[in-house]
Amino acid sequence: MELLQEIIARAKANKQRIVLPEGTEERTLIAANRLLTEQVADIILIGNPDEIKKLAVDYDLDQIDKATIIDPKNHSKKDAYSELLFLLRQKKGMTPEKAAVLVENPLYLACLMIKAGDADGEIAGAQNTTGDVLRPALQLIKTKAGMSSVSGAYLMFTKAPIYGENGLLVFADCAVIPNPTAAELAEIAVATAHTTKAIAHIEPRVAMLSFSTKGSASHEMIDKVVEATRLAKEMEPDIKIDGELQADAALVPSIGSKKAPGSEIAGRANVLVFPSLEVGNIAYKLVERLGNADAVGPILQGMAAPVNDLSRGCSTDDIYNMVAITANQAIALKKAK
Ligand code: ACO
Repeated sequence: MELLQEIIARAKANKQRIVLPEGTEERTLIAANRLLTEQVADIILIGNPDEIKKLAVDYDLDQIDKATIIDPKNHSKKDAYSELLFLLRQKKGMTPEKAAVLVENPLYLACLMIKAGDADGEIAGAQNTTGDVLRPALQLIKTKAGMSSVSGAYLMFTKAPIYGENGLLVFADCAVIPNPTAAELAEIAVATAHTTKAIAHIEPRVAMLSFSTKGSASHEMIDKVVEATRLAKEMEPDIKIDGELQADAALVPSIGSKKAPGSEIAGRANVLVFPSLEVGNIAYKLVERLGNADAVGPILQGMAAPVNDLSRGCSTDDIYNMVAITANQAIALKKAK
């Protein structure tokens, strides 16, 4: 997990403003206190200021006064954000009256702060479901130029250094798009290659996984993966990608050279792109539990600004790490601009 230390160091060296809309949630506050103590990011907490201050005393947190606290019901930019929400969503039926109510929802407020340039990234999900965290981000922040879909990747720190990059593999999509089209799957591959470069700082070698290797079986599900591979190469000709490959052909050199001779990815993949969310979500949880791997994510990719979702079972360490990752995404996005 040396990489996590590097990610934290990068965040400290270029501090970003990260908004935590679940500002009265215990693990979030404890993580925020540590982030502020170690100066990993500038933290914005959304919640009732009196409640946050009381909780900080209850939990013995002495750095919370260094956070910016925004009371969703009463702050100086409330009307401006409400107007922004109305303007962004009026074509979808938003009215000024509805916007005035929704602007008090911390998950919408966090996205509006990012949209207005008052924050660089957001982390939520310790209390809220994936859908509730993602919806405002998809509606307001939207995808970045050249992308039309948002997906979720995991850094999988396995105990098998012979695979991937000294045991590190990046898995996607494990979090967002239930049944991607070929075009969406191609975007997932390209976005995951970008995430791998930006966050893991390694050169991505992308395997498009299926239950067939180079035509060993035929089915429409395989056709989708073949088409997605073609589209991904078209989107980004320099990307190192191959498919369709079975998981063993992607990972094991002796099997890769037998099943896909001449492939520069087979047997050497460090990025695994799954054909559907069912496969990706189940695969990362199996590798995590049965393979005793550390799974860090989901890192949401393809968005115009970083918003990340936590599991409701997350630990304070998970929140701390995801803030550092979100800050790294914000730094990479700013550099790309
Ligand atoms: N990328 C980009 N935009 C999207 C995406 C996407 N993947 N999905 C939806 N949108 C946009 C839509 O275009 C729409 O925009 P608009 O209102 O401006 O037209 C907006 O988001 C809302 O779209 P809906 O289809 O109404 O979105 P919905 O709320 O039904 O669902 C969601 C979106 C929440 C992401 C849904 O696809 C979902 O629930 N996915 C699965 C999430 C999940 O449960 N993951 C597993 C658990 S997480 C884990 O274990 C790590």
